[in-house]
Amino acid sequence: MPTPRRDDQGAEFTAFYLREIGVHTPGSLSSFEAPQTEVAHAEQPAASIHRTPAPDASQPVQQRTLADVAGQAATCRLCSLADTRTQVVFGAGNPHADLVFIGEAPGQEEDRLGEPFVGRAGKLLDRMLAATGLARESVYIMNTIKCRPPNNRDPKPDEVQACNIWFGRQLELLQPKVLCLLGRVAAHAILETDAPLGSLRGRWHSYQGIPVWVTYHPAFLLRSPAQKHKSWQDLLTIQERLRHLQGS
Ligand code: URA
Repeated sequence: MPTPRRDDQGAEFTAFYLREIGVHTPGSLSSFEAPQTEVAHAEQPAASIHRTPAPDASQPVQQRTLADVAGQAATCRLCSLADTRTQVVFGAGNPHADLVFIGEAPGQEEDRLGEPFVGRAGKLLDRMLAATGLARESVYIMNTIKCRPPNNRDPKPDEVQACNIWFGRQLELLQPKVLCLLGRVAAHAILETDAPLGSLRGRWHSYQGIPVWVTYHPAFLLRSPAQKHKSWQDLLTIQERLRHLQGS
């Protein structure tokens, strides 16, 4: 299948993405056809990462807005990733978003540019969002930790725990209606489990009272494109829940 040129992005990219995953009418589950090439894939299980409540009381500076928290986080030295990062990647998008996506950790491009999901995986996330009618600017995107681990290794439990001070306050200010966890590392850290991703996907979870849906990480989908249609279905499920919550 030919790949669209970069200057043809937008509607054509979305149409291409939907064709690629076997969907012929945007937004319609009934028109979905699973690709014949589909094979069973599972992400590798990772060590469990346990999250502790954010120690808000220890914060010396008032954090009334996301910008306040981001400003404080920018100089964070609570873990050793401060020694190797280029910059803190706090989060991006609509501060009033009902839907918040949470990935693993900044990669090389994110570390360079200071924004989450701007590399290859981020471009795919943009296309996944567009395919369900969501603009990147309408949602909020963040990571489990805010600094790039060297060589993109998995975050360590003490790094996740140290970063929780920012993560907790960020979610408190965002007050999303739904969280979408992208991949195994985010799911394990936030849901405090080491269950395989496949067993976490397909049902609702809860984090501090917020409904949580788990889907594949876009980087995994780049390696296993036959699974993209499942993520598309996940996004439609989330949209359905959001519509329900927004109506209530
Ligand atoms: N992968 C992630 O989990 N987060 C990013 O910001 C980029 C890639």
